[in-house]
Amino acid sequence: MKAHLITYGCQMNEYDTHLVESQLVSFGADIVQGVDEADFILINTCAVRGKPVEKVRSLLGDLRKVKAQRPLVVGMMGCLAQLDEGQQMARKFGVDMLLGPGSLLDIGKALESNERFWGLAFRDELHDHVPPPPVGKLQAHLTIMRGCDHHCTYCIVPTTRGPQVSRHPDDILRELDSLLAAGVQEVTLLGQNVNAYGVDQGARLGGYPSFANLLRLVGRSGVRRVKFTTSHPMNFTEDVAAAMAETPAICEYVHLPVQSGSSRVLRRMAREYTREDYLRHVADIRKHLPHAVLATDIIVGFPGETEEDFQETLSLYDEVGFDSAYMFAYSPRPGTPSYKHFDDLPREVKTERLARLIARQKEWSARKNAAKVGTVQELLLRGDAHDSGFLEGHTRGNHPTVVPKAVGVTGPGVHRARIEHATPHMMYARLIDAQGNDLPELPNLNPEAAALSAPLTLA
Ligand code: 5AD
Ligand code: SF4
Repeated sequence: MKAHLITYGCQMNEYDTHLVESQLVSFGADIVQGVDEADFILINTCAVRGKPVEKVRSLLGDLRKVKAQRPLVVGMMGCLAQLDEGQQMARKFGVDMLLGPGSLLDIGKALESNERFWGLAFRDELHDHVPPPPVGKLQAHLTIMRGCDHHCTYCIVPTTRGPQVSRHPDDILRELDSLLAAGVQEVTLLGQNVNAYGVDQGARLGGYPSFANLLRLVGRSGVRRVKFTTSHPMNFTEDVAAAMAETPAICEYVHLPVQSGSSRVLRRMAREYTREDYLRHVADIRKHLPHAVLATDIIVGFPGETEEDFQETLSLYDEVGFDSAYMFAYSPRPGTPSYKHFDDLPREVKTERLARLIARQKEWSARKNAAKVGTVQELLLRGDAHDSGFLEGHTRGNHPTVVPKAVGVTGPGVHRARIEHATPHMMYARLIDAQGNDLPELPNLNPEAAALSAPLTLA
């Protein structure tokens, strides 16, 4: 079998793709990188907004045409597969198998089945399953929980991924050990709401540490860098910030989705915190980690959001001074409470507010990144940048960064670099040695790449 996997959506989906891919490899499949070479195509889908759903619809349309020409098995996994919307699509486009987020380990059964296979159960064995480490990667994801117990009114995730189930710490540490043995240097702990780790459906689980203590455990394992995503402000405790501050391996990067700066909108979103609560969490984080890099998610144009509400989002952005943000126009998702009960705002209002928010974010990212010029940052270099002669990677604060290759540093690894220039979305740095001296650049950089290393001004 020649299998090709296509992934939409979040880091949880990337982790799940890896999990299923490693199952396929254990069955003897070859993983191929293009549709043309494949006789099995599996699409890992996202349902959080309308856009990724439409992308899957058009891909399925294309694949139906390929299927008419030659033998091809098409499968859908992930969030959209769990929903009626996805199942209708699957029927319409002749999809052969569906695996919801809780049924990924049914992949073997699905491949053996001679008829259409629909796997939609939430299976317990997924939680103790430890996928093999990724091959030759310095970075890996590690799922510590699945599902979500919150019911934000705009969000389809509790429907697609079910209630929260925390993984047993022994399974997490076992997986961590295998990642470390494979040479992984940066591990990102994943969950819909990692702060609620160990408290499933309101009940604290015996033998499970709090999230802050899990961070301490993971941080002491010998892994070089630990990150986590994502956090719900309602479950954020000061002890998490304290654990971060006292554990050097934990990166000073916090992704804390605020969604809106207006307490009135937050109430309609059922977020269970106010603007003031959020600002208190930020103050706690800054108390323990004065140099923390803060990122957030924001939805603009939630039903009923007035211009005044939106101004409160802009003013919260300024008050916090986020380093970066993922920003979205509200997308009504069938099956969510806000879809059922509230009227969508006109599209122009949403896109205009989104544009204003993006402009504000750019200003702040420019300012924050410019303040890093001259500082020394630890970079995890993944490999060649788009332009040969350069390597790309990211800092502990998740800033995408580019460096010219240097003598002794021409491939992936963790190195120190001095930031020389910054734009809102990219940092340009120079590799340094242990004494802080510039490492000599590789001779004969190609002319195009050399031009890129010329000073860049802030956009
Ligand atoms: N519309 C727009 N954005 C959404 N998100 C979740 N649901 C919706 C929706 N219906 C955003 C939130 C969340 C991120 C993963 O996606 O900001 O934090
Ligand atoms: Fe969705 Fe809210 Fe759960 Fe996040 S916390 S997954 S936004 S319901």
